[in-house]
Amino acid sequence: MKAKLILTVSLLSGMIFLGQAWAQETAKVNPFSNHWLLDEKDEDKRTRKLEKYLRGFDQPMLEVGQRYSSIHQALKDNNFELASYHWKKIRQTIKNGLMKRPARKKNAELILFNNTWQQVFNDFQSHDISRAWQGFDKATSACLSCHAAEKVNFVNNQPLFRLNH
Ligand code: HEC
Repeated sequence: MKAKLILTVSLLSGMIFLGQAWAQETAKVNPFSNHWLLDEKDEDKRTRKLEKYLRGFDQPMLEVGQRYSSIHQALKDNNFELASYHWKKIRQTIKNGLMKRPARKKNAELILFNNTWQQVFNDFQSHDISRAWQGFDKATSACLSCHAAEKVNFVNNQPLFRLNH
């Protein structure tokens, strides 16, 4: 009788213990949680997740491409301030990209930032439409040259780089 009671009690406490352990485990790894960063307790792993999510050079380039096409439209509209605005944002976006991919810095400096970036900016700021289009063409050459230098020539063969004035 006593042995039976002991067995029942220990079985029950065992079940309670397992139940608690299961509850703790599910609270820790909720596969449907939205906190993909906060849930990662290991700091290195968390930073790696963020680094992966923020990608490399392709993602800033997508933005650069969009802003470049907006510059084209801005010049069609004689909106020199908007063209200058996007040109500044392009510089910032490429610089942010170089933070992620420092190996691309050499060509970015050589082809765009040493000289051409400022020239193009001055051309837009001149508010002279034919000079501004010349600036646009200089910008285009820099884009195309850097793609060639960085061995992604295939990027150049797309309608974005065939926009006419
Ligand atoms: C450092 C040199 C460099 C400069 C300057 C540069 N690019 Fe790029 N661009 C790249 C590289 C490298 C890639 C490919 C990125 C990759 O493979 O992750 C790329 C890719 C692209 C893409 C394809 C992005 C995609 O994934 O869809 C576009 C669009 C683009 N660039 C536009 C431009 C424009 C417009 C300019 C000029 C205003 C420009 N780039 C200037 C290096 C450059």
